[in-house]
Amino acid sequence: MKFFVDTANLDEIKEAASWGALAGVTTNPSLYARIGGKLEDFEAHIARICEIVDGPVSAETVAMTAEGMIADGRRLAAIAPNVVVKIPVTAEGLAATRALADEGIRVNVTLVFNVTQAILAARAGARYISPFVGRFDDIGEDGLSQLADIVAAVQNYDFRGVGVGDEEVEIIAASLRSVNHVSQAALMGADISTVPFNVLKKCMQHPLTDRGIDTFMADWEKVRNA
Ligand code: E4P
Repeated sequence: MKFFVDTANLDEIKEAASWGALAGVTTNPSLYARIGGKLEDFEAHIARICEIVDGPVSAETVAMTAEGMIADGRRLAAIAPNVVVKIPVTAEGLAATRALADEGIRVNVTLVFNVTQAILAARAGARYISPFVGRFDDIGEDGLSQLADIVAAVQNYDFRGVGVGDEEVEIIAASLRSVNHVSQAALMGADISTVPFNVLKKCMQHPLTDRGIDTFMADWEKVRNA
């Protein structure tokens, strides 16, 4: 499983990239609003993220029609070669996904909550599909079991040649809220987890690691002083 960081915050992206295990970034309008982003600076901000990270950087369309999404998608894809256009799984979104994929533009189909939405997104040429875990939990459903169903269903088929070139569709486990969400996504075979910075930090921490380091340091002091 690859790790993406789910944030528009440049400091967080730089720090996550410095750990050496970051494969990409996802953003959405809410994450951009959270950092106080300005409309006129949006494309420049995505360009700054693409300078930090070589891997896929998702930038979301805010249009509601296929024509608008296609126009947004072309503009966003022109920012940098690693931009992925994020589009919601609606009829208009699927039509825009097909049109952009046919032009060689990679699309991340977002706001996916069930198997049929995921398979339709793959058939429409999505390069990435983003099932949301936490938001499904928020309405009293089981986000992880829904993600497991989507992973299993997509793995039943070979979507090579349906999207951009012969690239295989990948599932991005999204709306992850805890280390357990990330662990379970890995166990069920999600290709990618996109993780908020604070959760990503917790993914590398364990109290026994800290305790082990303290013990090794204390014992090494004994060796030095012997
Ligand atoms: C990423 O692609 C999604 O937009 C994001 O993970 C949504 O997370 P949230 O449900 O915590 O807002």
